[in-house]
Amino acid sequence: MKVTLKQTLMPVINKPVDAYQFPQETRITIPSKEEAGTEKDNPKVKENQKLERPLPNPFPMPNPIKHRSDDPALFWKDKFGENDDRLKLSVDVRSLYRYEHISPESLIKNLYRTEEVRSSQLNIFEQFGNAREVDELEKVSEYYQHQDGWTNRLIQGDSLLVMSSLLERENMTGKVQMIYFDPPYGIKYGSNWQMKLNNREVKDGSDDHLTSEPEQIKAFRDTWLDGVHSYLSYLRDRLLVARELLTESGSCFVQISDENVHLVRCLMDEVFGSENFISLITYRTTGGLGSKTLSTIGDYLIWYAKDSNNVKYRQLFVEKSFGGDSMFKSIQETNGLRRNMNTDELRGYISKGNRPYRLSDLVSSGLTSSCVYDVKFNDRVFSPRKGYSWKTNQVGMENLINKNRIEAPGNTIQFVRYFDDFPVQQLTNFWEDTVGELNKGYVVQTSTAIIQRCLLMCTDPGDLVLDPTCGSGTTAYVSEQWGRRWITVDTSRIALNIAKTRLMTATFPYYFLHSDVNVEASEDKGKIKKKITPKIENSVSDIRQGFVYEEVPHITLKSLANDEPPETETLYDRPYEDKKRFRVAGPFTVETLQAYEVINPETLDQTEEIAEDEAVFEQRIFEHLRTTGVRNGDKNEQAIFVRVERLADDYLHAEGFYRAGQGERKAYLHIGPKYGTVSKDAVNKAVKECRRQGDADWLIILGFAFESDIENRSISMSAGNFQVSKVRMNDDLLQEGLLKKDKKAGSFVTIGEPDIAIVREGENAIVEIRGMDIYDPIRDEVKPRNVADIAYWMLDDDYNSTDFMVKQVFFCGGDKDEFDKWKKGISNIAKQSTKIKVETTLKVEIDEDAFDRLYGFQSHPIPYSKGKKVAVRVISQFGEESTKILKM
Ligand SMILES: C[S@@+](CC[C@H](N)C(=O)[O-])C[C@H]1O[C@@H](n2cnc3c(N)ncnc32)[C@H](O)[C@@H]1O
Repeated sequence: MKVTLKQTLMPVINKPVDAYQFPQETRITIPSKEEAGTEKDNPKVKENQKLERPLPNPFPMPNPIKHRSDDPALFWKDKFGENDDRLKLSVDVRSLYRYEHISPESLIKNLYRTEEVRSSQLNIFEQFGNAREVDELEKVSEYYQHQDGWTNRLIQGDSLLVMSSLLERENMTGKVQMIYFDPPYGIKYGSNWQMKLNNREVKDGSDDHLTSEPEQIKAFRDTWLDGVHSYLSYLRDRLLVARELLTESGSCFVQISDENVHLVRCLMDEVFGSENFISLITYRTTGGLGSKTLSTIGDYLIWYAKDSNNVKYRQLFVEKSFGGDSMFKSIQETNGLRRNMNTDELRGYISKGNRPYRLSDLVSSGLTSSCVYDVKFNDRVFSPRKGYSWKTNQVGMENLINKNRIEAPGNTIQFVRYFDDFPVQQLTNFWEDTVGELNKGYVVQTSTAIIQRCLLMCTDPGDLVLDPTCGSGTTAYVSEQWGRRWITVDTSRIALNIAKTRLMTATFPYYFLHSDVNVEASEDKGKIKKKITPKIENSVSDIRQGFVYEEVPHITLKSLANDEPPETETLYDRPYEDKKRFRVAGPFTVETLQAYEVINPETLDQTEEIAEDEAVFEQRIFEHLRTTGVRNGDKNEQAIFVRVERLADDYLHAEGFYRAGQGERKAYLHIGPKYGTVSKDAVNKAVKECRRQGDADWLIILGFAFESDIENRSISMSAGNFQVSKVRMNDDLLQEGLLKKDKKAGSFVTIGEPDIAIVREGENAIVEIRGMDIYDPIRDEVKPRNVADIAYWMLDDDYNSTDFMVKQVFFCGGDKDEFDKWKKGISNIAKQSTKIKVETTLKVEIDEDAFDRLYGFQSHPIPYSKGKKVAVRVISQFGEESTKILKM
């Protein structure tokens, strides 16, 4: 996968691997995916099923603005519901479940042969708090009460539901320091989503490039049906909940283009209050594109604080320029000679030791009587203009003269301001120096530089950052780099898989923690130097105390005149690096939102309109079963149904009769949710019911997406067997009306199970992926295993039936050439470092065999132990997953 390979491990071979920890921070205990449903009896869940919040400014119509003190407001269709009577935001509160536990540090250590790794294997369980040691019986009451150690979180689900769950189930009101929200910019269906992990080509309006993920289609239908009107409701609801998550000093950034910036700003005025507006930042994304009129070269960040009087703010600085357009057009040579810059110097070519400078006024804008006097300088006498005074008193002026800071170019004297008196300038809200992300893994990926600035301006190390629109995980990536904690959310499996692999393989510099070092600062030729030595004792590794940052002196006329040491400014984006170490992402959990219940239209308390819609959808399915039938992915056999009839059962939704061999056979059909994933629980209930009926040969589970651990199987009954098959419905069934062409959905295709084996090799065993069918929703075909179609696979070699702890990961898909290049690069670095014999505290050596296995189908060896469970999860380029549990 492209994203992963480019960023991985490159510069770091000889250094110990590390990750920042947050020992003081905690998060609340939540159930794992396997424990889903057990939380139903938990008091917090029982008493708290809905989030309800008043909508801001529900003015009665007509025009509510009566006074000049009223803020102008924005109105849109259905802002307060269809009948203008919706005064509250109301959200069903769902649970979040832990799904995977990933510790990049442990994964990467697998690839090195180090003495440290051999002597003390990282305990992955310890890295995820202590929830897993809790007795089964106590677990339910521990959910939402007990605090675990902190881990960052990658959550699949709709942002509104996830944020509501964080607020209502997990008490996270006021816990988030910064929110970075990068919603789809507009309301076009096609332009926002990518349909394959390794293919960023998305053309708006092209049917072939439309995403086919049910969650995304639902998100689109729900939120953009009324165009910009629904878009505004979508944003308002999410911002309302997001605001509540913010700390009193917290900030929220919304990234947006010029298409809707005006509307979103008005909307944010409503949600946050116009008094909490902080800034509208314009940043450059491209070098300028051809346009009939004025070219657009940038986008916007709208920044609001929870409370502008309280907002946490760290001033950032950018390099100042000299020559060209700047005021610094003079130069002082090493011999002291001062002159105007020549052409080369104006372009920025300055010889070592020469100091660019400019002259600035010495006359004050007001009158201070003690600062009115004559100055003798170079045998001339100068006095301030009538009615004005000098900027300093007589003693100060003497100091400036003695320090060679005065020049008399004409009739008055001026102050010599060197460029290096303060070589930086304050960052403003105009970011001309940024560019779009060059190395994109996701079609709408934000450049790290943009999010980094936001994060450095309004958070400190250890603070919590939330991104409700994760995409490729840029916010999480930047937070990792800067030692902030993070939570990120997306509905798209494609996006989350890209983010997950990006984080699993990312490497970062190790910034010295202030708490762990002694710092001696000294000034040398106007520069502040810091000598950093690790503390032998009392190092507590407290990231809350921050990093050790570079500082620059801010020499001013005042400090020189008063003979004071200059003030210093901290450069928060320039921490000192420990070059002997490198860092990977800390442990994180992948989480999912409680699944939608499987829908049986007859049993649902729903509006007529929805019921009708469901009935039409169901009829479409039946029609296709009768015409094209169910195709067997492996054998290209087709089961055409002679009759299909609806049943009034919650789990067996229909029965169908198909011809096979001599006669007619019966099948039951379970129809999965229209926009969602077929849950294992629903399948188990369907199987139970099918067994009770005892009269069918086949149970067909129709779905667009399946929970990863649903398996095809054969069920034995006293009266014979029946087969349970997962059957993938063609996405076109779902996209009707969204596609431009009227594509007829072809067929339903059975999805085969991955063929995975454990092979014993003496004391060890290896896991091997031998075969896997991959359904390609674009071509509507099932293809046999191909290395390029499996994005990656991972395993837990000692699965405890509840918590998938990712112990090994293998990246197959993508470009083999790129992988080879990457690997070659790494071994070259390894060879080089052996030659130079760089001194390290730890001997780290690349494990060639382990690297060789990374792009393939065989795992690293795992210790064999009879009866031990191994969980294997395979993820296709389409973001579809399959999990198998094997026993040794
Ligand atoms: C513009 S992209 C974000 C890109 C991101 N900044 C990056 O650097 O990759 C918007 C993302 O929001 C996700 N999204 C859209 N609606 C959502 C919703 N209701 N809940 C969660 N995620 C949503 C989309 O799947 C998409 O990945």
